[in-house]
Amino acid sequence: MPTPSTIVQLGERSYPIYAGTGLIADFGATCRLHGLNDPVAVITDRTVAAYHLSPLLQTLRRSGFRPMTIVLPPGERQKSLRRADAIYTSLLRGGIGRTSGVIAFGGGVVGDLAGFVAATYQRGIPVVQVPTTLLAQVDSSIGGKTGVNHPLGKNMIGAFHQPRFVWADAAYLRTLPRRELISGIGEVIKYAVIRDEVFFRVLEAGLEDLLNLGEDAVARAQAVCAGIKASLVSSDECERGERIVLNFGHTIGHALEAAGRYRLLRHGEAVLLGMRAESAIARALGLLSGNDGERIDALIRRVPIHAHIGSLRPAEILAAMGHDKKRAGARNRFVLPVGVGATRVVPDVDLRLVRTALRELLSPASQ
Ligand SMILES: NC(=O)c1ccc[n+]([C@@H]2O[C@H](COP(=O)([O-])OP(=O)(O)OC[C@H]3O[C@@H](n4cnc5c(N)ncnc54)[C@H](O)[C@@H]3O)[C@@H](O)[C@H]2O)c1
Ligand SMILES: [Zn+2]
Repeated sequence: MPTPSTIVQLGERSYPIYAGTGLIADFGATCRLHGLNDPVAVITDRTVAAYHLSPLLQTLRRSGFRPMTIVLPPGERQKSLRRADAIYTSLLRGGIGRTSGVIAFGGGVVGDLAGFVAATYQRGIPVVQVPTTLLAQVDSSIGGKTGVNHPLGKNMIGAFHQPRFVWADAAYLRTLPRRELISGIGEVIKYAVIRDEVFFRVLEAGLEDLLNLGEDAVARAQAVCAGIKASLVSSDECERGERIVLNFGHTIGHALEAAGRYRLLRHGEAVLLGMRAESAIARALGLLSGNDGERIDALIRRVPIHAHIGSLRPAEILAAMGHDKKRAGARNRFVLPVGVGATRVVPDVDLRLVRTALRELLSPASQ
């Protein structure tokens, strides 16, 4: 049985994160250990299912479960109330009851959707998160944020619902497309910048090890990121205070994603670009030294992003942040780095600074 690498401390709802490589054989027994009852429903997408579903079903069956499986098409469009409703129907037909559980097996899309279904089905049933992308392993599977999109906004419908445990097996990452790996590295760098200067130096020295999925590099990234996220979630489960630092790179990142109609950029790619622009704002405000700003920018620029953002315009991005002519005077709030490993929340940043940072980011010289 693997030992937990991190515990998210939340009183009687505390839960472990199991991380490592090639853990699958013990998964069924770990579900038993955490009190999951039959029948369980495994929710996944077609791509993950094709590569990885059968060993997961085998270990569940060996531990006496009779899993039902719900296999969705891959992609962000699945994060909808319509899809959630179709899943409720399958769960009802499959006899999933209040004491059964859901296993969310996939990237952040499956994790958010299956987590939301578990949070709402029969007023909430247990969920286990089995993340299969780097982004989900270091970030989205931990912390209990679940949800779906609304036509008027991403992640607008949701609930906090903590999992029984998180099972982050690095072996899944071997089949991950490179673009998805790079997207996950965006969140990894975010953790280093907000909280861990030592880890930042590790990335400076060996970013390529992570890009090549070196076992030690992945294990360290999983451990550091899960540790930081667990401690932030433990002290501020519902994001009323400290947890907000996880939004570094996301104010501009989310706006870039929206301006690109969610087709141009993967989430982590948008975060990489958002962190560059937000670091530039911190420099312009005199909060971040030129030297630290250079280090952050240089590390991010070593990540080979392939999206072409040259077609975006600063005005569109500002509009996606809620700053357009109709909403003159709208307020903003940024999490800005004040060094490598430390941040400050800054309200009401002058839009001229934001516009300048966006212009720099979009300029051909910067790409
Ligand atoms: N809840 C949170 O705290 C939180 C945090 C960050 C992001 N998110 C959400 O996460 C989502 C993005 O997640 P994501 O980046 O993991 O994307 P994703 O779930 O869409 O997965 C990316 C692609 O990789 C494929 N895939 C997944 N695992 C694979 C594997 N092991 N091998 C091969 N292919 C694999 C998927 O089929 C999909 O096509 C967004 O919806 C975002 O809003 C949530
Ligand atoms: Zn993110």
